Parts: sequence; C-alpha cells; structure tokens
Amino acid sequence: MQGLYVHVPFCPTLCPYCDFHVVRRHGGIVEAYLERLAAEARALYERYPDPPKTLYLGGGTPSFLRSGELRALFAALPWDIGGAEVTMEANPGTLNAERLALLKNLGVNRLSLGVQSFQDGVLQTLGRAHGRRGALKAVEMSLEAGFRTSIDLILGLPGQDVLADLREAAALGVGHISAYTLQIEPGTPFEVLGVRLDEDLEASAFEQAEETLGQAGFVRYEVSNFARPGQESQHNTLYWQLGFWGALGPGAAAHLPAQPGKAPYAFRSNNPPLPRWLAGEAPAIEEISPLEHAREALMLGLRLHEGIDVSEIEQRTGLDLWSSLKSVVEPMASEGYLRVQGKRLQAQNLGTIHPLILELWEALEPTKTAQTPG
Ligand SMILES: C[S@@+](CC[C@H](N)C(=O)[O-])C[C@H]1O[C@@H](n2cnc3c(N)ncnc32)[C@H](O)[C@@H]1O
Ligand code: SF4
Repeated sequence: MQGLYVHVPFCPTLCPYCDFHVVRRHGGIVEAYLERLAAEARALYERYPDPPKTLYLGGGTPSFLRSGELRALFAALPWDIGGAEVTMEANPGTLNAERLALLKNLGVNRLSLGVQSFQDGVLQTLGRAHGRRGALKAVEMSLEAGFRTSIDLILGLPGQDVLADLREAAALGVGHISAYTLQIEPGTPFEVLGVRLDEDLEASAFEQAEETLGQAGFVRYEVSNFARPGQESQHNTLYWQLGFWGALGPGAAAHLPAQPGKAPYAFRSNNPPLPRWLAGEAPAIEEISPLEHAREALMLGLRLHEGIDVSEIEQRTGLDLWSSLKSVVEPMASEGYLRVQGKRLQAQNLGTIHPLILELWEALEPTKTAQTPG
C-alpha cells in the first residue's frame, strides 16, 4: 500500500454541480463517522502496517470538521505519517490561523484549496460559499503558514475571464494548479436546470492555461494538472501510475495487490455510501486481471507528460503487450501524435490524447491480445 485516501463526506453547503459523495452534517453523524473510520483503519492497518508514502484527505470538505474532530480523525489512523506527503482538501472560508496551526501539528503539509475562480460573478454562478476575497485570503494564509499549496480552478465557465483567472493564479506563489472543465453530472441541480457549456471555450481555456502557466514556470505534468518542478502531487501521481493505495470512509475506492504470482493481478474495493458504511457493510470487491490492469495503466499513464513505459507494464503483468500495440503505435508516431522511445509512449499534446487512448485501449481488447507471458 503506497498511499492512503480518506474520504470525509461533510460540506458546509452542497454545490449545485457536485456529484461527489457528500452530506450535510447533522446531530451525531460526525461522531458516528469517526468511530466507524477508526474501526476501518485498524482493520486495514492489520493487513498493511507499513507507513504509506502519501495520505490524502479528500471529500467533501475535510477542513469543515471541527478542531476536536480533526484531532480524532488523525488519532484514528495508526500509521506513522511522519515522512509522508499529507494533503488535505480545504474550502476557502474554513481556514483561519488557529486552524492552520492545528493542521500543521497533525502532520498536514499540503493543502488543496477549492478556489474555482477569482471572479465573484463566476463564483456566484457556481453557487460557491466564498467570493474573490475569501479565495485570495485562503491562498495567502496557506502559503504564509508554510503549506505546499495547490488550487483547483474550473475553466471555460459562462462569463469567466479565463485569462484573468490564469494570470492571477500564476502570480500567487502556489506550486500546483489543478484545472478542470465543468462536468454536468447526472442528477445534479445543474443538470436538472439544463446548464449548457461552450466546448470551444473550454478547449481554448486549456490552450491558454498551458501558455500562461507555462510562462510562469508551471509544467502541464498531467492533462488537468500543472506544477512547478518538484511540486507535483505524489498522491495523484500514484493514481495515474496505477500503483496501490488503501481507502477509508464512505464511498472510498481502494486499489490493492492480489497475492503475488497469482491471477488476478489486483483488486478494487469500493466502500458503500454513508448509511450502509456506518452500518458496517463490507466493500464491493472487483478482481482486476493482468490484462485489465495493463489497459487501465496505459490509459492513465498516457495522461502524464512523462508518458508510460510499456515494458514496465509488461514486467508487472507478465504479458506481451507490445505485439498488439506496435502496429497501432507506429502510425501515431509517424503522424506526430506520439513520441516513442523504445517502449516508452509519450503524447505530443496532452490536449488531444483521447482518440489515442481509445485506439490503444481497443488494440488491447481481450479478443485481440495474445495473453502469452512477456
Ligand atoms: C472533491 S472537490 C473537493 C474540494 C472542496 N470541497 C471544494 O469544493 O472546494 C475537488 C474539486 O473537484 C472539482 N469539481 C467538483 N465537481 C466538479 C464538476 N462537476 N466539474 C468539474 N470539476 C468539479 C472542483 O474544482 C473541486 O475543487
Ligand atoms: S464544497 Fe466541494 S465537495 Fe462539497 S459540494 Fe461543493 S464542490 Fe462538492
């Protein structure tokens, strides 16, 4: 287990576009959550006692927990997190100096702030609980308190001056920026209201992001993520490299190794939503075959600027992947979409990788793939 994800499902207000697993807090629910979390953590620790290299508290809004609750949450995790990258997601408006000192004390060293935009009109459209001033204040306090600081932006929204948001983000002194386009998720108020987005605007927003953030020293190291050198998220990189991580909390998903040398290669375990999780329901387990792992690793790895080394995936899974990929990869390389060095594949342009991923994915369909050991 190289990393650990902890899902904290509580938010001060529920945003009309969000379909993460979130609830409002109400009498006794946080206490019940913390009690169940401690039991789940003890059980995971028994199987995986080695300290994870990364810990990520996401949500929801972990920073919405009260001070005593945050202390209880960290006390519930038996691992030594002294040397780990410890990230917490935080909303502007849930931080003050005292709160930041507590987080530091508990071992948090990286904050991921849900800024979305620095424009009041855009934040109102998104139904956010904070405005421009709140966003700027949160970033300033986080940096001043010495946290590695990342901000989330949503780009291409109606009425948004994208360039202004990007310039402002680049000048703040943060080391990491995640930039998304708004996804209209089924069942959210935005979907019900029929909110529509302009896809051209979104595509040009990412071109602007690459240029503006690039000039300020950020590298687009993953499709949606920009970092100054050395400031990349180690935890999210573990997801894109399809490593192994544990997960605690309602709705949380883990990816863990199966027994070495035996099929399946790995398994995913998906925790049930809050009420069933509180009642002690076990996670749903899905077995991942070596070929499924290889396909997923390829899809995720191509999202990274550094790309993916197919020979490494062949070693992991014992499969010969190259004989199925070779004939698809070669034209992609000669047409200038893909850089190929040995068996390392790297996208020339992270803005246009989706058709490439689809083709490579299809090339590794079980019917087309000889599952001979590599
Ligand atoms: C799980 S949220 C948690 C962060 C924190 N609760 C907040 O909202 O500030 C992480 C990030 O996902 C992004 N996000 C959430 N819903 C989205 C959607 N429907 N489309 C695009 N991005 C979304 C936002 O940028 C958000 O900051
Ligand atoms: S605060 Fe973040 S996690 Fe909570 S509802 Fe809004 S976007 Fe979703």
